Amino acid sequence: MRIGVLTGGGDCPGLNAVIRSVVRSSDHLFGSDVVGFRDGWRGLLEDRAMELDVARVDGILTRGGTILGSSRVNPDLFRAGLDTIVAVLASRGVDVLVPIGGEGTLTAASWLSENGVAVVGVPKTIDNDIDCTDLTFGFDTAVSIASDAIDRLHTTAESHQRVLLCEVMGRHAGWIALHAGLATGAHLTLVPEEPFDVDEVCEMVSARFARGATHFIAVVAEGATPRPGSMEFRQGGMDEFGHRRFTGVAQQLGEEIERRLHKEVRTTVLGHVQRGGTPTPFDRVLATRFGLHATIAAHEGKLGQMVALCGTDITLVPLADATKRLKTVTADRLVEARSFFG
Ligand code: F6P
Repeated sequence: MRIGVLTGGGDCPGLNAVIRSVVRSSDHLFGSDVVGFRDGWRGLLEDRAMELDVARVDGILTRGGTILGSSRVNPDLFRAGLDTIVAVLASRGVDVLVPIGGEGTLTAASWLSENGVAVVGVPKTIDNDIDCTDLTFGFDTAVSIASDAIDRLHTTAESHQRVLLCEVMGRHAGWIALHAGLATGAHLTLVPEEPFDVDEVCEMVSARFARGATHFIAVVAEGATPRPGSMEFRQGGMDEFGHRRFTGVAQQLGEEIERRLHKEVRTTVLGHVQRGGTPTPFDRVLATRFGLHATIAAHEGKLGQMVALCGTDITLVPLADATKRLKTVTADRLVEARSFFG
C-alpha cells in the first residue's frame, strides 16, 4: 500500500511526530510506502510531493513545525480542484490519504471522503476545539508555554502592583485560556464562549486591590468579546477563510480598565510563541499514537474516519461527525473556573 500524508492549517507542535509515526508504522508493520504533499492541500493541488522513508523522518519527533510545510486554502478553490486531487493521487499511486489538520483541513477531508477519496484524518490544533476527541496534540504544549509565561508575569505584576492581562490563542474556544488560567492561579479568565462585562471585570479588579492584594492577572483568549454595549470594541471583519480578524481584545480591555480605575495595566500577547518549538512529551506520545492508529485504519480499510482520544484509548470516529461542530468550553467548566476568580 502507499499512503499520502499532508499537514494543513496552522502549524502545531507534534505534526512531525505524526508524520514520523505514519512513516515508521507503515514501513515496520505493513511494508508500505509514504509520500508527503508539501504545504497542505496546496501541494496536493499543485502535485508537489516528497518521498518519505524511515531515514528521512529520523530525528524529527521532537521538532516543532512540520517538515512538509503547511498552508490554508480557500474552501471554494479546494472544492473546484476535486478532479485534480483525484488525478494527482492516482498518478502518485496513493491508496489512502492521511490529512493532519484542524477544523478546516478535516472538513475538507470529510468532503473528499463523501466524494469517493480514501482518507483517514488526524486531528491537530493547539486550540483543542475538534469535536469527538478528548484532546488534540499541540494543546498541552501551548498550555505549558502559556503557563510558563503567566507564572513569570505574576512576579513582575506583584512587584509593581499592576493589572496584567495576558492574551492567549483560542479563536472560537477558550481551552488554552481556561487551562493556563487554572494552572497559574490567574484572577480572571475570559473566553470566547461567554462575552464579558467590563463593569464586572473592573469591580473584580477593584475588590481584589481593596482586599490588599498586590496585583491582578487575567488570561484573555484572543476570541473573547465584551458583552454588546459594555465597551467600545473595534471590529476587524473577516479574512478569506471566513475567520474573524482579531483587533487585540486584551489591549482594548486594558485601556478601558486603566481609564476607569486609574490603575497601571500592562498587556502581553503571546501569539505564535504558543505554537512554536518542541512538543511536550504528552503531545509527542499522543501524536505518535494518532499516527500509528491512522496507519492501521488505512490498512484495515476503515476510511472516512478520524483518529480520536477517548479516555486513554485511541478510537475512530466518522469524519462527518467530528466536523459537525466545534468543541467549545462547556458551561460547567466555566463554573469551575469561576470558583477561583478574584
Ligand atoms: O487554530 C490555531 C490558531 O493558532 C488559533 O489559535 C489562531 O487564532 C490562529 O491559528 C492563528 O492563525 P495564523 O497563524 O494564520 O495567524
